[in-house]
Amino acid sequence: MTTPAEAFMAAYHDRKPHMTSDLIDSCRVVDDGRTSYQVLAARVSGTRCVLDLGCGDGSLLAAIEGAEVLAGVDLSAAHLDVARARPELADADLRLARVQELPFADGSFDAVVSHMVLMLFPDADAVIAEAARVLAPGGVFAAAIAGGVTGALKVFIELANSLLDEVPEERRVHIGGNPRIRRREGLDAMLGAACFEPVSWDPIDLDFGGPEADVWARCCETFYPVGTLDAEQLKRLESAFREGTRDLVENGRLRAGMTMRIVETRLRAGLPR
Ligand SMILES: C[S@@+](CC[C@H](N)C(=O)[O-])C[C@H]1O[C@@H](n2cnc3c(N)ncnc32)[C@H](O)[C@@H]1O
Repeated sequence: MTTPAEAFMAAYHDRKPHMTSDLIDSCRVVDDGRTSYQVLAARVSGTRCVLDLGCGDGSLLAAIEGAEVLAGVDLSAAHLDVARARPELADADLRLARVQELPFADGSFDAVVSHMVLMLFPDADAVIAEAARVLAPGGVFAAAIAGGVTGALKVFIELANSLLDEVPEERRVHIGGNPRIRRREGLDAMLGAACFEPVSWDPIDLDFGGPEADVWARCCETFYPVGTLDAEQLKRLESAFREGTRDLVENGRLRAGMTMRIVETRLRAGLPR
């Protein structure tokens, strides 16, 4: 059953279906200028059947090369409409469904991918179990998950968190993932329980910086609970943000960064299912 947090996220993306991919496209990997979609897509390019968990507007699926079958699930209908309109995804199987209850048969995919989704769910072990179920033995599971934040994004999240205590209980949203996902040993234990091999764990640093107004807008878009603040609280957050990030401006550019972890594993072959 869809949780209140999932309904909040779906409604948020229904209102702004291009937001996540615009954000990701504007924050390039410091080392090579790629997007994190391109980095993750490269892990499974050339694989025959690929499923994306929480596929959003289809940006990751569209970046995967050489697959015969592309599929994705998401809870935002507007996101799926944008994905369906992409020429690269004209034949893709895109469904409105929960990642915890995948509408696909056992062993249907050679790879399962997921970009910035896995850390959103307290029941992430149910998502991992579903990924294992729909993968063929030896199939690849590759995901981008959130890591640390630096500069203005760090300041923003600290300030926003302190304001969230003021939000009346009836407006609050509790988007709290399973903290084990964010540590290699924790994720490994969760994946191991679902018969995956030990995970590889590669951090990538993204440049989140830019003109002050752009960084402010990106920060607001990154952090779901900001949507629960009222206009007055948002205004206070903005002035505290401007004050708190003054020292982070260099040549008209506000410094900000985000680390993602690209994690990859395989379903053990030859195990009883
Ligand atoms: C941070 S966005 C990432 C979207 C996409 N992977 C990307 O990176 O562009 C999280 C996505 O998860 C979707 N979502 C949230 N809860 C979900 C659930 N239980 N099952 C399927 N999708 C879900 C949201 O609608 C949203 O599209």
